[in-house]
Amino acid sequence: MEQSKQTTLLVVDDDERNRKLLGALLVAEGYAARFSASGEEALASVAERLPDLILLDVMMPGLDGFEVARRLKADAKSSAIPIVMVTALADRDSRLKGLEAGVEEFLTKPVDRAELRARVKNLLRIKEYNDFLADHNRLLEEQVRARTLQLTESYRDTIFALARAAEFHDEDTGLHVKRVSHYSAMLAERLGMDAGFRDAIFYASPMHDLGKIGIPDAVMLKPSGLDDEEWRVMKRHPELGAQILGTISESPYMLMGIDIALGHHERWDGSGYPSGRCGGEIPLAARIMALGDVYDALRAKRPYKPPFTHERAVETITQGDGRTVPAHFDPAVLAAFRDCAGGFREIFSTHAD
Ligand SMILES: [Fe+2]
Ligand SMILES: [Fe+2]
Repeated sequence: MEQSKQTTLLVVDDDERNRKLLGALLVAEGYAARFSASGEEALASVAERLPDLILLDVMMPGLDGFEVARRLKADAKSSAIPIVMVTALADRDSRLKGLEAGVEEFLTKPVDRAELRARVKNLLRIKEYNDFLADHNRLLEEQVRARTLQLTESYRDTIFALARAAEFHDEDTGLHVKRVSHYSAMLAERLGMDAGFRDAIFYASPMHDLGKIGIPDAVMLKPSGLDDEEWRVMKRHPELGAQILGTISESPYMLMGIDIALGHHERWDGSGYPSGRCGGEIPLAARIMALGDVYDALRAKRPYKPPFTHERAVETITQGDGRTVPAHFDPAVLAAFRDCAGGFREIFSTHAD
């Protein structure tokens, strides 16, 4: 097989004779050589195309070898290139200074061919190994990203399948759950919640009435006027929904879905069901989602009421009408609703039944 790319070394030296000498040695070892006559030239050459290794002179007019090494090692693009400092100075101080600048190896002038060969070969082998590890890590990270995406998509598919199943059993339409997703995400954004929360509430909201699957048709399909016993049965749907979701997975969507299913009929003032929890005892996601659910129910036609206009629905939520009162809602969620009520109107008309 043909070698795809010949190993290339950059020789940096202000003395032309030294460049030629080192170049000849490298070519004799089977490497390709590039040349720079100053530190500035070397930086430009590396920026243009990365060599596999650099042989770097120390004493040069302008940028000296220490400064060139420091700059190359400080730049993430060139920091992995091994540098061999070629020096006439055998003293300890300049070696220390070179090490501090990030240089990997030293060669002393006049350069011994066998020593050059050994040092270059070792460094290239280490670099090859490091490059392999870096590639491998990149590949693993990509695989993890792809798997996570797959998993997220399968959660979302599950959610929509569940929401569709619940729909068959409910007066609400598929568009109701879609609108509730949008109301919830909008309120969450208004409340300053982060992208993860907004994503979770968007996908968790459609599952709020999933528990209605477990409510008998005799109760579900009764057009109006449930008696006390029938109400008691109907009020089990939050717990039933949470139970179903609890068996599916521990994805963030399902965990928030449980909070929402269980808490979406709780009220801030404690007058809700199933547990009569109040205030901050009710999970925030449920407090948010409940408001959108009420707005959407007010806009819908029900056996006991005509559909309300947007204005009337807003007035009912913010000022109360006896049946719905502002004390039912988290004051912060209510304030967010006031701020983005126009958005609710738009969501309702965009996803109208
Ligand atoms: Fe419900
Ligand atoms: Fe609902």
